[in-house]
Amino acid sequence: MKFFRVSDRKGIILAAGKGTRLYPVTSSLNKHLIPVCDKPMIYYPLSTLMLCGVRDILIITTKSSINLFKQLLGDGCQWGINIKYKVQEKSEGVAHAISLGEEFVGDKEVVAILGDNIFHGSDLVSFLRAADSASEGATVFAYPVKDPRRYGVVNFDDNGNVMNLEEKPSDFKSKYAITGLYFFDNSIFNRIRALNYSSRNEIEITSLNSSYLRDGLLKIEIMSRGMAWFDAGTFDSLKDTSTYISSLQLRQGLKVGCPEEISWRQGWIDDYQLVKLADQLISSGYGDYLFGLLEGK
Ligand code: DAU
Repeated sequence: MKFFRVSDRKGIILAAGKGTRLYPVTSSLNKHLIPVCDKPMIYYPLSTLMLCGVRDILIITTKSSINLFKQLLGDGCQWGINIKYKVQEKSEGVAHAISLGEEFVGDKEVVAILGDNIFHGSDLVSFLRAADSASEGATVFAYPVKDPRRYGVVNFDDNGNVMNLEEKPSDFKSKYAITGLYFFDNSIFNRIRALNYSSRNEIEITSLNSSYLRDGLLKIEIMSRGMAWFDAGTFDSLKDTSTYISSLQLRQGLKVGCPEEISWRQGWIDDYQLVKLADQLISSGYGDYLFGLLEGK
């Protein structure tokens, strides 16, 4: 099955931060490079953007890991996309990291994704398409979680209207976390400039989303039960995510978060290019999977 979809939006993947919740592993290795099942974590958010049809992508990362990302992903041409890189010198928050993409984005709209957020589900592409088609305001996604204290949370009034957003509330009133996938219009950079640093010295994504909410421009979509969302930033969630993906892949014989496959299905690379990619990956079995796609397995 091939699917063709191109978005005019610019994509930003946030892959900086300190990753302290995964120490000591991430004390010398960027979190987004560690394996989730059979591929580096960053393949998953990258795949989500590619499924949305986004071909221009900026990766924000740290000074010490930028070359490792370049080595892994290059300029993206092998997958028919364009990848650029930018360093966030200090971990000053998610919204701060996004603001570094201003020049890259120019006058376009933006889709930003946290590098440790992994989405999967049959409805994903339709969610992405719907959010991508909105040209004004912002669209974010809410997902019910057991422990909302780890996340940005959306609170509703008795009539189900959105009241406000809170970042990591200790005393939570709602079980709906805001996931790390955000669609923004081009007012985003002026909005970020108007934000202040939070008590933990970060420019918070929740403050940015609240700025859209105050102007009546924030759309919150509740992700359906059939969707899976993971924030793979802790040992437990990393293990759960890997287990989920590996059982799914074993059962279905289909890979989750495979940029080569998405690119080929999008028609961004042809059969010959896929063979070239498969050849390079033959010793890990990943290549066999890509050859299998061509044989229609
Ligand atoms: O996973 C969803 C949650 O992600 C949201 O519900 C929260 O509102 C949002 O603040 C965020 O919370 P986390 O505590 O998970 O954020 P964390 O510090 O782990 O950073 C998330 C990603 O963003 C991670 O992949 C690293 C990257 N990042 C983070 C910071 C603070 C950057 O690239 N630069 C930064 O300065």
